[in-house]
Amino acid sequence: MNILEIIENKKNAKELSKEEIEYFVKNYTNGEITDYQASALIMAICINGMTQDEILTLTVAMANSGDVLDLSDISKNIVDKHSTGGIGDKITLIVTPIIASLGVPVAKMSGRGLGITGGTVDKLESIPGYNTNLSIEEFKKNIKEIGISLIGQTVNLAPADKKIYALRDSIGCTKSIPLIASSIMSKKIAAGANAIVLDVTCGSGAFMKDKEEARKLAKMMTLIGKWAKRKTVCVLTNMDEPLGYAVGNSLEVIEAVKALKEEMPKDVKSVVVKLATEMLNLAYKNSSSSDNKKKILEVIENGKAYEKFKELVQKQGGDVSYIEDTDKFEKAPIIAPVLCEKDGFVEELNAEKVGKAGLELGIGRMKKEDLIDSRVGIVFEKKIGDKVKKGEVLAYVHGNSPEKANTCVNNILSAYKIGTKKVSKKNIIEVI
Ligand code: URA
Repeated sequence: MNILEIIENKKNAKELSKEEIEYFVKNYTNGEITDYQASALIMAICINGMTQDEILTLTVAMANSGDVLDLSDISKNIVDKHSTGGIGDKITLIVTPIIASLGVPVAKMSGRGLGITGGTVDKLESIPGYNTNLSIEEFKKNIKEIGISLIGQTVNLAPADKKIYALRDSIGCTKSIPLIASSIMSKKIAAGANAIVLDVTCGSGAFMKDKEEARKLAKMMTLIGKWAKRKTVCVLTNMDEPLGYAVGNSLEVIEAVKALKEEMPKDVKSVVVKLATEMLNLAYKNSSSSDNKKKILEVIENGKAYEKFKELVQKQGGDVSYIEDTDKFEKAPIIAPVLCEKDGFVEELNAEKVGKAGLELGIGRMKKEDLIDSRVGIVFEKKIGDKVKKGEVLAYVHGNSPEKANTCVNNILSAYKIGTKKVSKKNIIEVI
């Protein structure tokens, strides 16, 4: 067997055998297969898809490419969450301390930005000192001691996904049900949680643009979860406009901290409460959604979730003074307003256009090796349904050069559609 035959088979839309998939995963992880050969195969998978059996095999091979954690000595009740990606999606930073503050351990391995979507690891690393690169022993120790750890894929967990994920990001192969489902579920299986809640985003700023595609992805991940004996629930959420008001790494951390400490934007709150409720429903067998929701609102109100976030940051080496005083985060040198050109209502704030504008601004990576600037991003003042006046500020662009900031101002302006009617919005679409 060799990689050229495997590429040829997938190029011709043939079903790959278990041996072929395992051969690819093993030899790409250990460096025998080159990036350009892996790119060809990933592109062929992206175009020709995979059968259910191929997807299961790929998921298991990626999960087994490194260590598979057994956390049963910590708890049999460990719940994980993951999002299929979005614009302004800072939900993990808010939901996980809520759950941990309610005594349910959280063991979460997150990703970096993918395509136009942001990644939790990039956001966490904007907190000075925060270490996403823990050993498995430290990861487990933190969960034991404070009930939560949020790390990147730097430990030896699903290393095959880490390589394939970064490659997909740089070759335009982010949108693919087999690749997304296997990427997410391999990480979840390797990280050892017993139950998983998946936020399947749907809309212009998500990989899945419509409900049908999002449902297909959700069903595939639920099937993998069932097969791997992990209780899995998917919540379909709207990603037609960015979530919350901030898009950008440190800007989103600031918004998440404020959401835990002061006030949560309405759309963020609806997703946070729904996902957290589903996580508690899975963790506590015979509990009711309404009781769980009450508990969630309580730990937000009484500050316990905020205190848990601070504990997490401190435990992973982060400077907590930035969480206590978010003004300490370094600001981008240029803050440019996006001005409204007519009176009316915001009818659309296209999340995909915002994501692309953010990528150009430096929030994400164009190439695997690119460095990101954690200061840059966009802070919206007006979102769908808001009344606006000509000359009013719609958003502020935080840029690191006048050229990039100017381009972004124009791009953001084109993401807005101002109409004459007030539009209503819905954040939670359905639970699968
Ligand atoms: N999140 C992941 O971990 N992988 C994907 O492919 C998409 C979102």
